[in-house]
Amino acid sequence: ITPVLGIDVGGTKVLSAVIDAYGNILADHATATRASEGFESTVASIVGCARGALEKSVMDPSGIVGVGLAVAGLIDSKQGIVRTSPNLPGWKDAPLGRRVAEALGKPVFMINDANAAAVGEQYFGAGRGSSHFVYVTVSTGIGGGLILDGKLYEGSEGFGGEIGHMVIDDKGPLCSCGNRGCWEMLASGKALEREARRSIEGGAVTTICSFCLPDPERSEGEGPPSHPFAYITAKAIHAAAKSGDPLTIELIDRTGYYLGVGLANIINIFNPELIVIGGGLSNMGDMLLRPAVEEAGRRAFRQSFDRVKFKIAGLGAASGVIGAAVHARQQMEHPQP
Ligand code: BGC
Ligand code: NA
Ligand code: ZN
Repeated sequence: ITPVLGIDVGGTKVLSAVIDAYGNILADHATATRASEGFESTVASIVGCARGALEKSVMDPSGIVGVGLAVAGLIDSKQGIVRTSPNLPGWKDAPLGRRVAEALGKPVFMINDANAAAVGEQYFGAGRGSSHFVYVTVSTGIGGGLILDGKLYEGSEGFGGEIGHMVIDDKGPLCSCGNRGCWEMLASGKALEREARRSIEGGAVTTICSFCLPDPERSEGEGPPSHPFAYITAKAIHAAAKSGDPLTIELIDRTGYYLGVGLANIINIFNPELIVIGGGLSNMGDMLLRPAVEEAGRRAFRQSFDRVKFKIAGLGAASGVIGAAVHARQQMEHPQP
């Protein structure tokens, strides 16, 4: 059975992979999204990343049947348009599907990145066998995928499940969606990085700078970073915390607290049997998740909370690309009118 190409466009990284019908990755490739450089640069990143995965699999585009394209944002999947995206600034009604289809000469099927990851986990990961679970990605932003009664719930237009923008603090930090105090402004990678920078600017003592190495997958090319704090990434914060640095331990604990506040809302609304947590910050494991689960337990209905299991994404960073490939196959087999 001919493979499909999955592409996952996040706020920071693009990952693409050639994937067979059983969800196996035959080859993959990652690049920086370059979101701050605008739509055209990101299109070039996406197409370059796709070609990178195809080259590694010793295939040209004719070797794949189609492309599943997962993107962080509100996706009009019928028209292949990104309506808006909080972490891809300036994207308004961007015709990404057509551009990628033209470049690769294959049909492209678009889906929200977290919805794709939920589908990937449902078929091949931690969600197998569960009909009521919520996938939560904690990355640059926070995304959600709702598997309700065994099916992905997308809402009337496909924009449902935007859990990262539920309001946690009505007077909190301004979000790029225009609202204030969204969950992702308090509990995501960018929130953690913002708080670390704020503490350092305020003179806090920390060893974090000895962990701030350039990350090739998100660097902006040659030369020094454009901002002196550009290397204060969630990864560096995690490394410092693991080495015992008190400031970063405290910052991760605080992020976990806010993660738990949002999880309590999700548990009360959906009464899921399972919450699958993915995204880059899930690599922090218990350091982040213990305070999150504890806080969720303090706030949610005990009757709902006691039932819910928490699992880390079974497919790791690949949930989105694998789910995008599943989505493309489903659309090719049963096209939506
Ligand atoms: C976007 C979502 C996306 C999530 C994770 C949020 O800011 O609104 O569409 O799923 O980030 O990338
Ligand atoms: Na979603
Ligand atoms: Zn928001």
